[in-house]
Amino acid sequence: MEKQKRLVVVSNRLPIVVGQQEEAWEIAPGSGGLVTALAPILKSRNGLWIGWPGCGEEAPLDELFARFSQEHNYRLHPVPLTETEVEKYYLGFSNETLWPLFHDLLGHCHFSQENWLAYDEVNRRFAEGILQVATEDDLIWVQDYQLALVGAHLRQMGVRQSLAYFLHIPFPSPDLLRRLPWKIELLRALLEYDLIGFQTLRDRRNFTNGVLAFLPGAEVLSRQRHYTLIKWKNRVIKTGHFPISIDFDQFDADARSTEVADAAWYLHEKFQDHQLILGIDRLDYTKGIPERFLAFERALQKYPALHKNLSLLQVVVPSRTLVPEYQTLKEELDGLAGRINGHFAEPGWTPIHYQFRSLDRVQLLAYYRTSEMALITPLRDGMNLVAKEYCACSVDHDGVLILSEFAGAADQLGKEALLVNPYDIEETADAIYRAFTMEPEERRRRMHRLRAQIRRNDVHRWARSFLAENKIQRAPPL
Ligand code: G6P
Repeated sequence: MEKQKRLVVVSNRLPIVVGQQEEAWEIAPGSGGLVTALAPILKSRNGLWIGWPGCGEEAPLDELFARFSQEHNYRLHPVPLTETEVEKYYLGFSNETLWPLFHDLLGHCHFSQENWLAYDEVNRRFAEGILQVATEDDLIWVQDYQLALVGAHLRQMGVRQSLAYFLHIPFPSPDLLRRLPWKIELLRALLEYDLIGFQTLRDRRNFTNGVLAFLPGAEVLSRQRHYTLIKWKNRVIKTGHFPISIDFDQFDADARSTEVADAAWYLHEKFQDHQLILGIDRLDYTKGIPERFLAFERALQKYPALHKNLSLLQVVVPSRTLVPEYQTLKEELDGLAGRINGHFAEPGWTPIHYQFRSLDRVQLLAYYRTSEMALITPLRDGMNLVAKEYCACSVDHDGVLILSEFAGAADQLGKEALLVNPYDIEETADAIYRAFTMEPEERRRRMHRLRAQIRRNDVHRWARSFLAENKIQRAPPL
């Protein structure tokens, strides 16, 4: 049997949280879906994760990483970033150019040559970091929009082995991509990978159409249900779509734990007179939170039966607060929540419970488990794992999911969720009322199917199916 290659995962952030408790430094695994999916594979393949530690130089990283690798059976390798690099590569090009453009929000884009150059330079440094620790037998898997150029830099440094890349956010249509001054460089760089994974078929098609529109000489060799083969400069590149997911069984089991059940019961007691509709998002203008507040306000205007019977519980997790756009959004949300509550609140009933902070896992799962409905309405989203987590934690099978048609998750959950266009305030308001009045039997039927779908297509399947595609060796030059 062929020996499995060692896996080297490369992402902008390392999957860890480094912090200080009193005097002592601590390191813990991060909580994201990617860590859950990849940690078991990294462990079994004696793997390696390369990325930015996200903390300053004062942390004793060598010692912390050694402790981490002993406990978790895979190693970490840091690519440190200077303050200027964080500003221009991370906050600047990644989050003020690619992020809004790829989420169809051109109005939020800032185009700067200086930031592009910093992005290119930091991607080169990531490639150097990989070369310091990886060998030619490793399977190198680069993650997400912050690192699109890493593969091209590796090639320039002489790397010949198969390289894989997964984009966690949407890929824009050619019309939008056309606006990016560095689109040609970006597309050429992406085509240096051998396998490129997207979240949805639409993203995969957008990419192929972008390549055909802007790179004369590129050709589609074959278009299959699960993949497309593109020919470019004597090489064949495979693209596919692999919808990312969650560890369903883990969420399901944790949501049934005594700790979560107690916390859920406490919440239920607090809100016993009315139902809860839940929103949980990172602070981000792509998440459609102001539009959601307006839709909730509209529902209260239109349907008096909701008064004193339904509250929106909106948790906003602080994120990228150094980007001005995110600060403005925070102010907008504060204003809207204040206005709506000021207008509708009555003794014993607050229409919007708005929390700007992170939640610990028990609290998060208790919110999922208790809330009768979830209102997940991003303007655009690569996937949206909150939607899947909510269903996995709806262990009594009676939650209703209202979901934006522009979330990648709608491709899989769209039949049983109530789909809405988040820009359509009227439609979203009506969906809230429909969910509120939905009969228990219909709720259960829909939730049962949603859970079955997510259980079947969990994050382990995602990682397995992507890595299985990469088994094909780097295609020889034609
Ligand atoms: C999205 C991106 C990830 C990113 C995460 C958190 O999910 O696809 O690459 O890590 O947001 O954002 P942050 O900028 O804090 O890493």
